[in-house]
Parts: sequence; structure tokens; C-alpha cells
Amino acid sequence: MCGIVGYIGESQAAPILLDGLSKLEYRGYDSAGIAVYDGDNIKVQKAIGRLKVLSELTHDGATMPGVSGIGHTRWATHGAPSNINAHPHFNQEETIAVVHNGIIENYLKLKKYLENKNYHFVSDTDTEVVAHLLDYYYKGDPIEAIIKVMHRVEGSYGLGIIFKAHPEQIYAVRKDSPLIVGHGKDGNLIASDVPAVLKYTRNVYFIQNEEIAVLSGEDIFFYNVDGEGITKESTTIDWDMNAAEKGGYEHFMLKEMYEQPQTVRDTLSPRIKDGAVYIEELGMTDEEIRRIRKIHMVACGSAYHTGVTAKYVFEGMARIPVEVDLASEFRYRNPILQEDELVIIISQSGETADSLAALREAKGRGIQTLGIVNVVGSSIAREADKVMYTWAGPEIAVATTKAYSAQLIAEYLLAIQFAKVRGEITEAEMASYLKDLQKLPEQIEMLLSNKEKIQHFANRYISAKDVFFVGRGLDYAISMEGSLKLKEISYIHSEAYAAGELKHGTISLIEEGTLVAAVLTQEELYKKTISNIVELTSRGAFVLAVTNTGNLEIKKAADYVIYIPQTNRWFTNSLAIIPLQLFSYYVSVGKGCDVDKPRNLAKSVTVE
Ligand code: G6P
Repeated sequence: MCGIVGYIGESQAAPILLDGLSKLEYRGYDSAGIAVYDGDNIKVQKAIGRLKVLSELTHDGATMPGVSGIGHTRWATHGAPSNINAHPHFNQEETIAVVHNGIIENYLKLKKYLENKNYHFVSDTDTEVVAHLLDYYYKGDPIEAIIKVMHRVEGSYGLGIIFKAHPEQIYAVRKDSPLIVGHGKDGNLIASDVPAVLKYTRNVYFIQNEEIAVLSGEDIFFYNVDGEGITKESTTIDWDMNAAEKGGYEHFMLKEMYEQPQTVRDTLSPRIKDGAVYIEELGMTDEEIRRIRKIHMVACGSAYHTGVTAKYVFEGMARIPVEVDLASEFRYRNPILQEDELVIIISQSGETADSLAALREAKGRGIQTLGIVNVVGSSIAREADKVMYTWAGPEIAVATTKAYSAQLIAEYLLAIQFAKVRGEITEAEMASYLKDLQKLPEQIEMLLSNKEKIQHFANRYISAKDVFFVGRGLDYAISMEGSLKLKEISYIHSEAYAAGELKHGTISLIEEGTLVAAVLTQEELYKKTISNIVELTSRGAFVLAVTNTGNLEIKKAADYVIYIPQTNRWFTNSLAIIPLQLFSYYVSVGKGCDVDKPRNLAKSVTVE
């Protein structure tokens, strides 16, 4: 996830671009760059690090004169953060400059195609193919070239483009990445998000998929993918700046929860090709996959909880033994690690000190390591033998939601691939798993749209003292994350328990009215968990059940039921966690807690 801006008008462009980017830094912040047309040429400045480095380098834009330009703040996906990989990217003659947010999925194929036509690439990015492809198709008409590029690239994009030969215009186009156009008094703007333009205008057009915008200082024209002009209505934005930075959401956590369908799509879609799982970056031969004798999942916090889920999925689906360890334990317990075992380190930030130390421990013992990481170029991503990225984009709220969901998807994909290669599942089973995975984004959207019901329920529990989360098997793993979400942002004591274990101690804590959230998504365990629910309700507990649509039996045992749509038994975590995230969020809001920055917690824990 990156942020793009563009400006054309009467004012100096560079200061406006830098100011706009500063409102988009939440979208990415490992490097930044701007391109400005100075009357003769397109000039580019880039800098690694936060935007302020670029601002200092250009004296807040003063060293880059010109009234039109584009800018970018980067969150690395393809290629580590560096000056060369930072945007804008040029064609060879430096007559076309491009900024991009999104992922060009077929960039390797396009790169080969262009290299055969003598195009020379300088960066590791997927974006650079767009600059060269535009050059390849440009025959005097920018719109014609843009349309041809749209037909060739697969994936998602929000693009800002300037052509040296057309300095009176800037161009923008999008597919599955956000892009808006602002109509100002002294000029027009493009941006990935509204906050970047609010200082200049509240008059905004939302560009839809596969629409092109052409901006001059005065006018804005829109075209469809056939090059036909289209008319669009503008919207007047009445949010304040604070709300606008969160995309109109009250908190980053809520915004990030709503980004989950997209995150799941982004993590899935580049890895499903021709009805099979294709994890290019894994770089393991089928023979190597068959040889794996055991997997160690090692992580902290919520990432650890996805590891617990992955244990059930890998063991159940691929029949590979899995051990799950908290990284802080793994590193000091002298674990038994043997040849043909694989250590998987799961981490959003890629910087968690204990996870990094666990990785080094495994590597030091000569065991092969795989990182499932969100932040490109982070320490774990650099040091692991192999890395599989989750495409969640930057996560701001301390309590993870979308990165957690992306980790689950990466783990399901790995499990399916391993299961297939090892002959544990048939072609038909794989096809049905992939079909179910592809339905998840829509199903998550549906669960999110139910938020009022959960908000209403959550309001009843803002003064709860203790809450318990219970489940069996995979549902126990879901309970762990549900419980952590609640305690970290609402400061209510909560515990996750294997449902069958309650009677060995914890049940003594149940009083009249104690809330217990029971997760029942594993059909063969319904009856067992229902027996535990009855034990709880008969001691006064109020039971909220999260279960699959169709489980009617539960209505007799639980006090309140939330249904999740049908999916394969291995993937239910991705759905059941949504109401639990919403519940925690609304309890925290109801209590007036600092949702995005809970006390005593940090997003990235780089100390032991
Ligand atoms: C912190 C965060 C958690 C996260 C954990 C592991 O505690 O608050 O949300 O799950 O660290 O972080 P990582 O970046 O390694 O996934």
C-alpha cells in the first residue's frame, strides 16, 4: 500500500505534493519521491526514510520549480526500500514519469517481453514495467497508450502519470486501488485518499475502476476503458481532517478491519494460477516439500495465534506434524531441530526481537527457515532463507486485524500446496479449497456489514470484569485471538480456554452473568462443546456463540448466537474472528479507551 498525489495549476507543485504526501504517510513510509515538470524536463527527487528527509532535501519543495507534478510515499512490495526502487519511475528517455499504488501481478512476464524489445530496467519494482509499457505504446496520444497498458497489466493499480510531451496535463487511472480527484480554485489534484487534497479543496470526484482522469489546471475530463468521455458527479467532503486521515472511520482499527476483504484478496490472488496454488517465492522443489518431516511455527502475539491455527490446518490437511512455539520460549528452550524440518517465523513487522532471535537460532542450527512477513525488507524478511509476504499494507492500530487475516491466508495457501505435493489431497479437493478461499473476501464483507448488531451487544458488556473465550480444536485457536483482542484494547480481563479443560479449574470463576464467548465452527465437535456450554449456563454464565450458519441446535444452549457463512472447516478462523474483532472494538469504544494506542503496548516490540 502506497500513497500517490498529483497537482497541476497556478501554484508551485512541489510544496503541494509534499504536503499531500504528508497526509498519506499512513499508507507507507519507507521512501518517497516527487517528479515535477520544470518547463523543459521532468525532474525527479527521491529519498529513503520518512517524508521529512525528502522535504529537507528539496527545501520543502523550493528546489523543484514547476506547476505540475506527481508524488509518492512508498510501502515496499517489490524490491527493498531504496532510492532506485522509490517512485516516480521513468521510461528510458525520462519523458514519462509514473507513480503507482498496487501490485502488477504479471510484471515478470511483461518485463521479459519488454527486455526482448531492448527496454532496460533499473529497479526491482513491478511499477517500472508500467513506465516502459507506456513508452512502448505511446504514439502521440497519452490516453491511447494508457488504455493499451490497462489491457496488458493484471493486478491492482492507482497510477499518476506525466508526459513531457503533454506538460499541460496530468493523467490518472485506477483498478482496485483507491484514487480521487480534487477540483481546486488554483489547480486540480489527484490522490490516493481524501486527506491529501482537503487543504486545497473539498470538491472531490471518486474515480471508479478502469476510469481515466485527465487534469489540466482548469479542467478535469474522465474516460472509460474504451476511451469514451464520461460524466461524473463531484462530492463535497464535510469530514474534518482528523476523520479524513482515517478514511472517514473513527479509528484506524475500524478502518483496518474494513480493509480485510481487500487484504485477503491481495494475499490470495497472486498465488492462485490456473486452478492451483503457486507460491513463487517459496523456491522449494516438490522433492524438498515431500521430505519435510516436521514444521515449527514460531511467533509472538497474534502471529502466534495464526501459528496455532496453522498447526490444525497443516496437520489435518497435509498430515505434517507441527509444533507451535512462542518465540520468547523457543529461543531459550534448546528445541530439538533436525534435518528436513522447516522453521516458519510469522511476523507482521518483521522486527519483533524474540521472533528475530528465534529465526537466528534456527538458522544457526542449519535448519531451513521461511518468514511469513508483512513488512518488505524488514530484518526477518532479509534474514530468513525464504520469505512469503502477506500483502496487508501498513497497519497503524496497535491491535492487529488485517495483518492477522493475511497471515492466515498465507498459511492456508502453504498448507494446500504442501498437501497437494505430498498426495494428501486430490485435485478436486484442492479446487474446492481454492473456491472457498476465493469466497472469503465477500463473506468477510458480509460479516462486517453486521456491525450494528455486534455494537449493540458489546454495549451491554463495557463494564464486564472477566470474559472467557472457549472452543475445541481450531475453535480454541480462534478463541485465543478473540480473547487477546478484547484484553489488549478494552483492559477487561479475559482468558481463552480449551472448552473441555474448563472443568479442571477455570469453571470456578463463572458467576451469575459472566460472559463466555463460545466458538463452534468444527461440526464434528459441536456436541462436545455444547455439553460444555450447558455446564457453563447452568452455573450462571451468559453464552455468546459464534457458529456456522445451519447450526440450529446451538439455539437451545446459548443465550445469543452469531452465525458465520459456510466455508471449509479449515478456513473458519478467517470468518469467526470478524465478529470477535468487532466485539472487542465496540467494547473498547464504549469504555472510552484509546483504541488505536492501548496503554503499555507497542506495535513493534523490538526488545526482549
Ligand atoms: C505486538 C503487537 C501484536 C503482534 C505482536 C507480534 O505485541 O501488538 O499485534 O501480534 O507484537 O508482532 P509481529 O510484528 O512480529 O507480528
